[in-house]
Amino acid sequence: MGVARGGFSSRFGFIMAAAGSAVGLGNIWGFPTQTASNGGAAFVLVYLVLAFCLAYPAFMAELLIGRYGQANAVTSMQKISRNNRQKHFAFVIGFGGVICAALILSFYGIIAGWMMSYAIEPVAKLAGLTGTANWLISQSLVRNVLFTALFMSLTIFIIRRGVEQGIEKWSKRLMPMLIALLILLIIYVFTLEGAKEGFTAYLNPDISRVFEPNLLISALGQAFFSLSLGTSVMIVYGSYIAKKENLVTLGVQVTLIDVSIAFLAGLLIIPAMYVAQAQGVAIFAEDGSLISGSNLVFTVLPALFSGMGFVGLFVAFGFFVLMSIAALTSSISMLEGPVSYVVERHEVPREKATTFIGLAILVFSILIVVNLSWMLDFIAMLSTQYGQPIIAMLCCVFVGWIWHRSDVLAEIKQGNSTVEYGLFWKIWPWYIKFICPTAIALVFWHSL
Ligand code: PFF
Repeated sequence: MGVARGGFSSRFGFIMAAAGSAVGLGNIWGFPTQTASNGGAAFVLVYLVLAFCLAYPAFMAELLIGRYGQANAVTSMQKISRNNRQKHFAFVIGFGGVICAALILSFYGIIAGWMMSYAIEPVAKLAGLTGTANWLISQSLVRNVLFTALFMSLTIFIIRRGVEQGIEKWSKRLMPMLIALLILLIIYVFTLEGAKEGFTAYLNPDISRVFEPNLLISALGQAFFSLSLGTSVMIVYGSYIAKKENLVTLGVQVTLIDVSIAFLAGLLIIPAMYVAQAQGVAIFAEDGSLISGSNLVFTVLPALFSGMGFVGLFVAFGFFVLMSIAALTSSISMLEGPVSYVVERHEVPREKATTFIGLAILVFSILIVVNLSWMLDFIAMLSTQYGQPIIAMLCCVFVGWIWHRSDVLAEIKQGNSTVEYGLFWKIWPWYIKFICPTAIALVFWHSL
């Protein structure tokens, strides 16, 4: 193959990059919206349990494949395969993940573009450019194309620079900024009237709702989307981790960061919703259901921010910058999946491959923008409700049924000498073989 591979230079770099991939619009926008529409604290509780009991083991399966193979998703899985049929199966899963990542990026880039234009809007207002400010939050075709292109250019810029100088360097800068901004905003919202009621709704679970099938299934889907499973991305990121690193601890740390940021985002958004309600913005219907649904971020929050007067302009700016940063550290991982595949399998130079694939995805995004009314939801559904669960399930099947148990355990043990090799890892191969695929199949079944 002959292509020099990059790698993460430090543990911190990997953690920031993988957490950067995991933490995104799914955490800061998806999770609070799902929480608000699925019984508040009960959803939070179920999400936490499922994230650790199902998503984390599946996440480990993908990291292990990558770290073992030290290559893109297809090559890594083919290294594990022992015959042509298995190699073929590996190709279908690995390439499926690559396509899935590209599809997700094609619609994610559009939404991230909206986040960026919403971040610039308060700046335009401050500068007295009311016309520009209105245009920035309109659904104008030109604005959509322009901001999608801007966001994709940033993504391409970072990925062209490779693993260490691109992904790692930027994730290390952007992730701590994101966490700091999030905490500042939470503190601010807590000083406002109505926040306490939101706090209770968020943290006081109605246990009777915990076993509602809809709630269970949404929480599981959210956990898989949030850890970027079924997209080849975590296999590729796993392949950039040195053999001397303890994968088990790294995996736990990334999962903890992902879950904590979703939790923090809920701590910001749910109280903010109650603050907005107290200020007269209609958020909940009389029966307590959510009026704004998936438009929460784009309709309710700007209304909340404008209710704060002058300060609101700064809060709005902070919030949407935060969303854009979160989206960027996720989008770079989505582009890395396909890029690493093309670079290593077809020996194309990284910069050329990145620009070409990035632009091809951008062209597809523009096609979505032009047919916004139906195509965005359709591509999002195809990739996240169908693609991700199926491919994540097949990854578990692959590790559970094709990879020899002793070889899996040997890979887990690499770099693991100092850590207790506990019972969990002895049952994990069995767990990944039966429990995980069955649970994911249930999510898929529901989405049908
Ligand atoms: N995990 C990201 C989020 O929560 O927003 C979304 C995502 C990133 C999905 C990377 C898929 C992916 F490959």
